[in-house]
Amino acid sequence: MFAGKKILVGVTGGIAAYKAAEMISRLRKQHAEVHVAMTKAATEFIAPLTLQSLAANPVHVELFEEPKLWNVEHISLAEYIDAVVVAPATANILTKMAIGLADDFLSTVLLATRVPIFVAPAMNHAMYHHPATQANLAILKERGIYVLGPNTGFQACGTDGDGRMSEPVEIVEALARFFVSRDWLKGKRVLVTAGGTQEPLDPVRYLGNRSSGRMGYAIAQALQETGAETILLSAPTDLPTPSGVTRISVQTALEMYDAVLARFLEVDVVVMAAAVADYRPAVQAEQKIKKDGTNCTLELVPNPDILAELGRRKTTQILIGFAAETENLLANAQSKMQRKNVNLIVANDVTKPGAGFGCTTNIVSFLFPDGRKIDFPQLSKLEVGRLLVRELTSLLEVEIKE
Ligand code: C5P
Repeated sequence: MFAGKKILVGVTGGIAAYKAAEMISRLRKQHAEVHVAMTKAATEFIAPLTLQSLAANPVHVELFEEPKLWNVEHISLAEYIDAVVVAPATANILTKMAIGLADDFLSTVLLATRVPIFVAPAMNHAMYHHPATQANLAILKERGIYVLGPNTGFQACGTDGDGRMSEPVEIVEALARFFVSRDWLKGKRVLVTAGGTQEPLDPVRYLGNRSSGRMGYAIAQALQETGAETILLSAPTDLPTPSGVTRISVQTALEMYDAVLARFLEVDVVVMAAAVADYRPAVQAEQKIKKDGTNCTLELVPNPDILAELGRRKTTQILIGFAAETENLLANAQSKMQRKNVNLIVANDVTKPGAGFGCTTNIVSFLFPDGRKIDFPQLSKLEVGRLLVRELTSLLEVEIKE
């Protein structure tokens, strides 16, 4: 199941640390390459030698220990692995992950890596239900971290309740499901646009919009997770490029138009998540425009509608568009779907709290040309991306194996 997959197992200091041994053994039996990072507290519960022997790789504990395999090990390991699973995950490591604290080997790798992260919380039920822990878990889920369990039942502290770590077999199954599902879109080439274009007025100013690029970046990550060859055509943003995704940077709508059309014949799918400026200044001043105390009028000329152009040219390609609206959401989205000849439109009301520009979450509906409509609750943008990828598999008539 895991042949060729490199998994980092993070073990933190809870009594369930002993179960990490069984988990590592199960992963190895299914041909995973296993690396292990333990917190210092974890080494009090189970000997590094035990996990090292089962993993057949050295165990990392300290940041400043003698290198075992590479230079700057926490960084090279962060880039080398395909997934991380932290099991057991204590309330302490969940807090560190939520705030981005990196004070030992494991927490530093967790901050440095861009690969999918799974956590299996394990703690006393009161600690689990503490608002701090619940808030941290909510943050982690919003970032796309997979939270496995916890289960309910007898706890080492002598009580019954939520907080028992998921069984090693359940964790390994969840990882296996993830890796199997990764290959849904293998062999498919997908172009995703993201961010808000910038239309220069002069050397220092531009007309822009409030798009953060987060939705498009999340879609690119979700596509990459399922094995698609993913090209991200990005207007300026501060976001890091998701691991495994090829990013091409553009600034203006015209640059985006050229970049999309140049690749259109080579791709199976285009997801237009970018907020493309509808207009650009008719002239771009060569020098900074000076104020003179009087009114200033800008003349704007229309930009090409990239998606509409793709809709006209499309043969077998699947086109997905976005409709970010501030009023008449469904009517506007429906009319865009027809006008632009797309296979799916993602509609969102950008005035709703928890939706639209800048937010890490979104509230969307998927609309299809046959009149089907699926409404979703508030979800992280990564979750929306993953749901979109599921729809894409049926639009591409790709079989999903679960
Ligand atoms: O018509 P409207 O601009 O609201 O449509 C939004 C959809 O069209 C988005 O998918 C956006 O990426 C795309 N679009 C485009 N070219 C434009 C404007 C919008 O491809 N010039």
